[in-house]
Amino acid sequence: MTRTLAVTGAAGSIAYSLLFRLAAEASRSAPGDSERIRLRLLEVPAVVDRLEGVRMELEDCAFPALEAIVCTADPEEAFAGVDAALLVGSAPRRPGMDRADLLEANGAIFAEQGRALGTGAHPDARVVVVGNPANTNALIAAEHAQRAPRADGEVLSADRFTALTRLDHNRALAQLAARTGAPVKSIERLAIWGNHSNTQFPDLGSAAIAGEPAMQVLARVCGGPDAAEAWVAGDFIPTVTGRGGAVIEVRGASSAASAASATLDHLRDWTHGTRGRWASMAVRSHGEYGVPAGLISSFPCVVDADGSARVVEGLELTAEQRSRIDASVAELEEERAAAERLGFL
Ligand code: NAI
Repeated sequence: MTRTLAVTGAAGSIAYSLLFRLAAEASRSAPGDSERIRLRLLEVPAVVDRLEGVRMELEDCAFPALEAIVCTADPEEAFAGVDAALLVGSAPRRPGMDRADLLEANGAIFAEQGRALGTGAHPDARVVVVGNPANTNALIAAEHAQRAPRADGEVLSADRFTALTRLDHNRALAQLAARTGAPVKSIERLAIWGNHSNTQFPDLGSAAIAGEPAMQVLARVCGGPDAAEAWVAGDFIPTVTGRGGAVIEVRGASSAASAASATLDHLRDWTHGTRGRWASMAVRSHGEYGVPAGLISSFPCVVDADGSARVVEGLELTAEQRSRIDASVAELEEERAAAERLGFL
């Protein structure tokens, strides 16, 4: 099988990890499995020349699965016929820019890319938005894809547009594993809710470690249920939500390799299924848990083997969980209202 994947922001830091791992993973597929990939790399015109260096290095890896590389500054060329698009590039926040300026700069980018995806991508394509503000960028792209159907009349469904909260999920897994001493693999049913911002809610309410409720394990490790609750509210949640800033402070640059790794986790799970395990994904709400329909919000999701993703339903939420989810969803609603005011929705 040959898959065509587009990656935007392809000369940037995240892409520099992502592209090589993508090609390496495809090349490691089982013997006899003839998975091949074609890459379409999109950049802004000012940077597209630098992409040639990335192409040269990709070629120099001699990845058996990598069939072709196209470097372009034209979204229509980048997205024509793609099976997946990883939208990593976005306008960075510059000094003096407020949130509305950032939304305005990105709204224009994601409206254009949404239109090009709508017209050109395979009707079953998967779109993962990484560039911030990721949830609202995904919302804008999804909306513009609906307005620009393919020539054959097929429409790339808004449900095929997702945003990345898997990095937050992975950060939460790592913190819980470190505090309890449990292997990451033994942790299940952890969830990130809401926006990929510091209002997100990393939720251990349903989490289990080797089948035992995580809060019970934490109570043992922390010295009682109250101490466990205090660790979650005072340490776990602020560490996870503030991790991006902490990495910038220490590394002098934002998370890149971990963001690339999470992007691959998201795409792999969405393509091959989660075998009943939960994965946090920002997906289009159909009103689940009272999240207004149409918003792209993070939920616990499961993905069937055929690649269909759905929100885990039927969870009983406490008042505390409810209010943390509502706070993040309120921020998503504000972002949607700002995008509407700017004419992107
Ligand atoms: P970077 O600045 O190193 O690279 C971004 C690249 O995007 C640049 O090469 C730039 O020229 C390109 N670009 C800008 N506008 C473009 C457009 N219209 N079309 C194609 N390319 C375009 O940034 P980095 O570190 O790679 O991060 C990329 C984005 O990912 C940022 O918005 C960052 O905030 C976000 N991010 C999201 C995370 C998440 O978990 N959702 C985690 C970490 C970063």
